[in-house]
Amino acid sequence: MSLAIVTGGSRGLGFETARALKAQGHDVVLVAKDPERLKKAANQLQCEYRAVDLEDLNQGKETFQEILATFGVPQILVLAHGVMSEKMSKTLKTTTEEWRRVMAINLDSVFTAVNVLGAPMAEARNGRIIIFSACLGRMSGPGNTGGLAPYRISKAGVNALVRNLAHETGHGTRGLLVDAVCPNHTRTDMGGPDAPLSVEEGADTAIWLATRDFDPATDKTGLLWEERQVIDW
Ligand SMILES: NC(=O)c1ccc[n+]([C@@H]2O[C@H](COP(=O)([O-])OP(=O)(O)OC[C@H]3O[C@@H](n4cnc5c(N)ncnc54)[C@H](OP(=O)(O)O)[C@@H]3O)[C@@H](O)[C@H]2O)c1
Repeated sequence: MSLAIVTGGSRGLGFETARALKAQGHDVVLVAKDPERLKKAANQLQCEYRAVDLEDLNQGKETFQEILATFGVPQILVLAHGVMSEKMSKTLKTTTEEWRRVMAINLDSVFTAVNVLGAPMAEARNGRIIIFSACLGRMSGPGNTGGLAPYRISKAGVNALVRNLAHETGHGTRGLLVDAVCPNHTRTDMGGPDAPLSVEEGADTAIWLATRDFDPATDKTGLLWEERQVIDW
């Protein structure tokens, strides 16, 4: 039995990833902001949960420390929380408040989670960190058309964090795998009802990364994945 901590676990892609991990026999702790919605999700999965507003970095840090103290070192950490930036958030139009809100939730709290929970996972030489990025944060491929500046740049930062951390931890040779996922446009509250992918399809690569067989001699980590394939950053 292993422990999986899933942020953004109250709904959407995080909930679907948590549901699949629980169904595969992992113990799961869900993290999200809205206590009522989170409690319902946890009841549905019959798992533990902790509500916290990850925009507040100190609260986030304390919550991750408490989770570690209560449940122990996780083997799987899935970071699937996130917010979209406002429609009119081009670089020259974005307010300081909007920039800080999106950066705090999408990027700073990712650092906090990895810093608190990833450190003992690395020490245990047995862990997988999967972080939901987005195609909008890529420096290549389609969709690099500007706009949504805080969102795109927060996800580009997530990509950089994953790449950097993978270098720091030996690219899987020391037992810690760290990868970013581009789920593609998925029908969730964020993706909207007309998105082409179901949550099962959108979460598939993250679930696979969390549970795949991994041989450091032949398999790769520290990368950006889409539909179980490596894509350029
Ligand atoms: N859906 C897509 O098409 C798509 C495409 C590319 C990338 N992504 C990325 O995939 C991830 C999951 O997206 P989704 O579509 O599942 O989003 P979603 O349905 O909008 O769910 C967002 C999740 O993040 C949590 N969250 C938001 N703000 C928070 C805060 N301040 N503190 C704690 N938790 C917070 C929410 O918790 P509450 O329920 O408590 O609010 C919820 O669990 C995100 O990182 C997103 O950027 C999604």
